Amino acid sequence: MSKASDTETDLALAREALEYHFGGAPKIGLILGSGLSELVDFFEEAKEASYRELPGFMPSTVEGHKGALVRGKLEGVPVVAMAGRNHLYEGHSAAAVVFPLRALIHWGIDSVVITNAAGGISSNLAEGDLMLISDHLNLTGRNPLVGENVDSLGPRFPDMSYAYDPELREKAKEIGTNGGFDLKEGVYASNLGPSYETPAEVEMLDRMGADAVGMSTVLEVIAARHAGARVLGLSCITNLAAGKSKNVLSHDDVKEVANRVKGRMQHLVREFVKAI
Ligand code: HPA
Repeated sequence: MSKASDTETDLALAREALEYHFGGAPKIGLILGSGLSELVDFFEEAKEASYRELPGFMPSTVEGHKGALVRGKLEGVPVVAMAGRNHLYEGHSAAAVVFPLRALIHWGIDSVVITNAAGGISSNLAEGDLMLISDHLNLTGRNPLVGENVDSLGPRFPDMSYAYDPELREKAKEIGTNGGFDLKEGVYASNLGPSYETPAEVEMLDRMGADAVGMSTVLEVIAARHAGARVLGLSCITNLAAGKSKNVLSHDDVKEVANRVKGRMQHLVREFVKAI
């Protein structure tokens, strides 16, 4: 038998800690981005562990990101949520950014709902819209799979054709239609951040086919697909991207809009976990 890689050893430790804190894994994971962490307040039978208590999980340095893992039931369905995530712009490596999600997959989740706050580029999108992610542009210049491949996790060259699961997207669209709220769909581009884009960069992204832009999600999606987990991606359009409106951008405004829209996002996620 070949020797376990460092990643495999670290994942085994994280899994042990998850089992110690929470017991067995649910099937569904949620990554809650800026201003969306409060969904965990609706969990029944909630059990929480701070990222500080879990090996390989790092405390969040971003305001609006809680930094805890919460296991519970949402609409009676067992789920586990990452309330807050880590970003490249905090100085973490791509592998460190995706470690918590990999640990959850190693523990046993097989589907993940990944949410984020994003700036709207497409003229179809307005502040406060929810956008189902259909595909992405990874413009971070990083990839969490760089380095020796961990064959027990997934293949060296994973396919990304259906990174955002078509079946899960259909379910989300049905819920959007039945719930009477207008769910948009589009391509999410991720930059490294932490500065917001210049208007010229937004113009470039527009021509490249991006509908929305943010600073997260794409590395997590790559790691999830590598490990065979299914992904649903949802962006909360907290602002129009730079140059698309006269407003200047601030994280406070992003949090404020995310807070205003969270009811609809929460409704969508609750109905979604019931449906899958
Ligand atoms: N750009 C990048 N990231 C973001 C934005 C944006 O306009 N809004 C929220 N996150």
